[in-house]
Amino acid sequence: MVNKIFDFYKPLIENRIDELLPETDLAYNDVIKAARYSLKLGGKRIRPIIMMEFCKLFGGKAEDVLDFAIALEMIHTYSLIHDDLPCMDNDDMRRGKPSCHIAFSEDMALLAGDGLLTEAFKVCANANTTDMAKIKAVSTLSEMAGISGMLGGQVVDLSFIKNPPDIDALCNMYALKTGCLLRAAAIIGTYTANPNDEAVEKADLFAQKVGLAFQIIDDILDKTADAALLGKPIGSDEKNDKTTFVTLLGLDGAKETAKKLTDEAISIIDSFDGDTENIRALTYYLLDRNF
Ligand code: IPE
Ligand code: IPE
Ligand code: MG
Ligand code: MG
Ligand code: MG
Repeated sequence: MVNKIFDFYKPLIENRIDELLPETDLAYNDVIKAARYSLKLGGKRIRPIIMMEFCKLFGGKAEDVLDFAIALEMIHTYSLIHDDLPCMDNDDMRRGKPSCHIAFSEDMALLAGDGLLTEAFKVCANANTTDMAKIKAVSTLSEMAGISGMLGGQVVDLSFIKNPPDIDALCNMYALKTGCLLRAAAIIGTYTANPNDEAVEKADLFAQKVGLAFQIIDDILDKTADAALLGKPIGSDEKNDKTTFVTLLGLDGAKETAKKLTDEAISIIDSFDGDTENIRALTYYLLDRNF
């Protein structure tokens, strides 16, 4: 089931990335190379797929938000490139290959991240859709990725190394560092097809649940996964003295919490009319994934 979903969306995403960020023969091509290296390594593409699925659920077509979905994946990839830098998590592997700063250099990884972030807003501004949808995409992405969103979460994550959090503080930080980009996916996908406050709010709430569950599973995988399959190092959190859900609740407690959040997300999905089968399947897949 989920394989069919991935098989449908991945070529769409890969081809559009190639159109939007091609290599050039210009003097600054080095930064495009580094950005494309990380962007084209793959990854699950879960954020763009969720955005396109929500757009379809509310009567739109995947193509209506394809460029917004690429912009979100550019921002996500920037966050990973910077997250791996020696001054952050200092991790050498990402998406099964050497991290951007290892494959290229620290300066180029920094600039590739900056470049992807900036390019994302160009892609949104140039998207072939209504001005209303573009403004919503730009305002949502800037809020969800910036100081009051993912980036703010990374700041709080760093502060917890010296001041370990309790479970509530950890949840609040995960809502920012991981939840916000998933929220952007659901909000933009829904709004573009159906700018109805109630629908957007429900989709947002679904993404908040999934976002928290997603980071809890990421914490579990950091302990239990096979590094080759996961595509990034195991034990990064412990190496960096990070307090995680596993530290506070143990593996079983963490998994139980992720299950409960997934059930809550599914009950929100079930309250929507329309074909929710793919979103349901993706939500369960995210709970049981091993990479
Ligand atoms: C990794 O995100 C960073 C977190 C928020 C936990 P993903 O697990 O979606 O990474 P990719 O895109 O599949 O590589
Ligand atoms: C980072 O969380 C989430 C981001 C905003 C990049 P992690 O540091 O746990 O993500 P991974 O495990 O390196 O992908
Ligand atoms: Mg990190
Ligand atoms: Mg990390
Ligand atoms: Mg992690």
